[in-house]
Amino acid sequence: MPMTAIVLAAGEGTRMKSRHPKVMHKLLDRPLVSWVTRAAREAGAERIVVVVGHGADEVRAHLANEKDVECVEQTQRLGTGHAVRTALEGARVTEGPVLVLNGDGPLVEAETLRRLLAPVASGEAAEAILTWTPADPFGYGRLEFDEDGSVARIIEQKDCTPEQAATLTSCNPGFYAFDAAPLSAHIGELTTANVQHEYYVTDMVSILRGHGLRVAAVTADDPDELLGVNSRAQLAQLTTVARDRINARLMAEGVTIMDPATTWVGPDVTVGRDTILLPMTMLMGSTSVGEECVVGPNTRLTDCTVGSNVSLEETVGTDVTIDDDVTVGPRAYLRGGAHVRRGAHVGTHVEIKNSDIGEGSKVPHLSYIGDCTMGSGVNIGGGSITCNYDGVHKNRTVIGDNVFVGSDTMMVAPVTIGDGALVGASSCVTRDVPADALALERSEQRIVEGYAARRLERLKKGEA
Ligand code: UD1
Ligand code: CA
Repeated sequence: MPMTAIVLAAGEGTRMKSRHPKVMHKLLDRPLVSWVTRAAREAGAERIVVVVGHGADEVRAHLANEKDVECVEQTQRLGTGHAVRTALEGARVTEGPVLVLNGDGPLVEAETLRRLLAPVASGEAAEAILTWTPADPFGYGRLEFDEDGSVARIIEQKDCTPEQAATLTSCNPGFYAFDAAPLSAHIGELTTANVQHEYYVTDMVSILRGHGLRVAAVTADDPDELLGVNSRAQLAQLTTVARDRINARLMAEGVTIMDPATTWVGPDVTVGRDTILLPMTMLMGSTSVGEECVVGPNTRLTDCTVGSNVSLEETVGTDVTIDDDVTVGPRAYLRGGAHVRRGAHVGTHVEIKNSDIGEGSKVPHLSYIGDCTMGSGVNIGGGSITCNYDGVHKNRTVIGDNVFVGSDTMMVAPVTIGDGALVGASSCVTRDVPADALALERSEQRIVEGYAARRLERLKKGEA
């Protein structure tokens, strides 16, 4: 039976003091809601139904990128039970296992969700609840158990008698698994007879039990997984938990991280063995880095594909491919689909945009190379620039193999420099250069013998 996950994400998150809905705040580089949908997907959910409400358009627009996600809008927020009911009805979920997850609990792991699903999948229980005993249970729904260890009831903090609040210490972090058939059959039995006058999803425990069904408790192993985001301070706290978790995994896989406290790696990033990450490095998005690389210090890569044995020092890269044996930096900026091929070198204060840098080619100093196709074995002298923009269009520069471009050359695109050509330093190249030719554009040098010495004498004597 296909598994469905319902993600509760209609809340405002008042304490965030934000224009944006709480679940859209980012943990590392990804909105909270997407951490939850990802965990659900990894746990085997085939359908993911997100209940949106506050800031619905923003959440919907973001989730449009996740093909297996459907959004159901809860226009009136009448409680967690009402949110689940809205999802079941809106997405017509009537059978199979169902996970119910809080959209603001980003650190829950797929493995934990699979453990939570187990008693429901086996038919042993109609509902399963994750549970733990926090140091301070204040604010959480409290669990009451039967003699056989199954859950008898959940009492919300606000509905607890002082005695219940003091003695019931086992808490509900808000992650549930249900069998959809009894859930959808009986969710209409929820009432608002409680202190908050809300439909509580937690009341499904007593309702299902009343129908002779069992509710299992599944103990959470790692309390960090249950942390929720209600404030910016908690967001920062969870971000360090996520960072440490990812860094620990990478180190266990054979990556050296000199300073884990200043190394920030997104959840989808992969890093190969024996690669060294130096301080102040951020690897985000779909970035992958191969083996035996040195990345950093001060390097930020987003959606980059990096081969092996690459050195990236003080480099910012967005959406670029860097092949094996390349050296980049210090202080380079690569972007816009650039491809730096095997053995090439991109040096200091160099920007490369939407360009193909051929094998073994070198752009060592102070250059801008944009919209350029460069062959292999090319050398670009310091300070050279592709003038790719005429104010209206972006134009291409094509440079053949083994071209030598002297320093301070302006290549005014569209322009082609043929294989093996030589461009003299300080030329402004506006016309195509044939293969193996010399292109030189500069006025001839004058020599005036003795001029400098005579000038100095004049100045010393106070003459004009
Ligand atoms: C809930 C549980 C409580 C548990 C706690 C853990 C209930 C009644 N109580 O309480 O036992 O200890 O979570 O964090 O469920 N939401 C909607 N629509 C609504 C109401 C809520 O989508 O109408 C969403 C919120 O955006 C949030 C989640 O459901 O993501 C939880 O709602 P919240 O009101 O924060 O529940 P708690 O009072 O924390
Ligand atoms: Ca010139």
